[in-house]
Amino acid sequence: MSALTNDLKKLTEAAERQTDGRDRFRQKLHLMPPVGWLNDPNGLCQFKGIYHAFFQYSPFNPEGGVKMWGHYTSPDMISWDYQGVIMYPDQPFDCSGVYSGCAFIEDGEMYLYYTGNVKLEDGDGYDYINSGREANTVLVKSGDGIHFGPKKLLMKNRDYPSDLTLHVRDPKVWKKDGVYYMIQGARTKDDVGQAIIFRSEDKVNWKVHSRVSTAHPFGYMWECPDYFELDGTKILSASVQGLEGGEWEDRNVYQSGYFILDREIYDNPGLSEYHLWDYGFDYYAPQSFETEDGRLIQIGWMGMPDCEEYTNRTIEDGWQHCFTFPREVYMRDGKVCQRPVRELEEKFGPVETASGQISMEGYQVYEADISGICGSRFRAVIGEELILEYGDGCFEMRFTDQDKGSVSGGRGVRYVRLNKLKDVKILVDVSSVEAFINGGQYVFSTRYYPEKASFCAEAQGAEMSFRAVRI
Ligand code: FRU
Repeated sequence: MSALTNDLKKLTEAAERQTDGRDRFRQKLHLMPPVGWLNDPNGLCQFKGIYHAFFQYSPFNPEGGVKMWGHYTSPDMISWDYQGVIMYPDQPFDCSGVYSGCAFIEDGEMYLYYTGNVKLEDGDGYDYINSGREANTVLVKSGDGIHFGPKKLLMKNRDYPSDLTLHVRDPKVWKKDGVYYMIQGARTKDDVGQAIIFRSEDKVNWKVHSRVSTAHPFGYMWECPDYFELDGTKILSASVQGLEGGEWEDRNVYQSGYFILDREIYDNPGLSEYHLWDYGFDYYAPQSFETEDGRLIQIGWMGMPDCEEYTNRTIEDGWQHCFTFPREVYMRDGKVCQRPVRELEEKFGPVETASGQISMEGYQVYEADISGICGSRFRAVIGEELILEYGDGCFEMRFTDQDKGSVSGGRGVRYVRLNKLKDVKILVDVSSVEAFINGGQYVFSTRYYPEKASFCAEAQGAEMSFRAVRI
């Protein structure tokens, strides 16, 4: 271990030992940084039976800083063990951050691909788009998911298409018909967001294969692209920066969503319209993986970069952000839907049921299900301040107080137009709420900072059930 790595490790561990006064809003089900800042999920996989979730981690500052990979493992996606940092920014090709990437599993080995970020010292008038930075593709291997081998530099910016800016990142790898493919997000010199497909015969030597883009420019940068198939439906996920005006005005600063492809991704596909993965305040950079029993699981970052509108009240406690609860992505009636992974059911306490109306006090972590909604109105109030409401063809997530020091942390309202509301599943943790609407065809996620542990819901004739989560 180099002297730099050794010191970074010692400093990280010292920061992690300072745990005083951080408990107030700590989650029970959602992964958080031990201290400091967390963003994207990385390297998600199930390897030799164990789930691995790595994360973009800046332990020294709850408002972000140089990125490394923290590591959690779990037998069931519910209880997670922190395993420490597996990669520090300690090489010339990743010295400004061990940026996002994926895990690919084959023949009992875990292959981690990531972007080594380099930001050169200012002073030469760099714009950090076409000059002043590097995005390197790097590989690290592990045979047991606990010990990791040396970092191997695979590609530099000169290996990417020449009409791209220096913003190329976030590799995700898969295998199809004996060939390995990698997708990375990119920004062209004309400021158009795209995905680049690479191809390899051996997982080490990669060549640009093709590009994926929309018929008309869609944002200036695509981050964390992901590709998977569900019952034959080909899905390209991308986190898009630079969507402005029109329908984007009332939404988050950046978006995460998906396109349905009319052909294999490496075959120059046409892209459908863009569907959001999540309509709430806090959702970005999701990544998927397949479980050993064949489910497609997605975890997102329950946060929002470059967001000035609202904040997280955990910053004053020395930490910020968490992941979404793991969601199974599945097809229902030709639609892409999401639901919390079924492992959660193991943790349910006894069920409380009601018809038309329910009101519960004193629970911090629970799932509420409202089904068989036949009227045109629905309303739920969580912690007396967060309102989920349907009426006049619109489903809304809204806070009553939009002050940054209130329950909302400054959040206001998000909505989606909806012809019919059939059911709502609400998963509440200490400081987050995720609402799955119509079988999870629409999802709203938000952080919140409640003072009261209360829940009530109303929808004429609907069946309601409430289960505390015991953890
Ligand atoms: C997305 C992102 C990625 C990058 C990482 C850095 O949130 O900007 O594109 O690899 O975060 O932390």
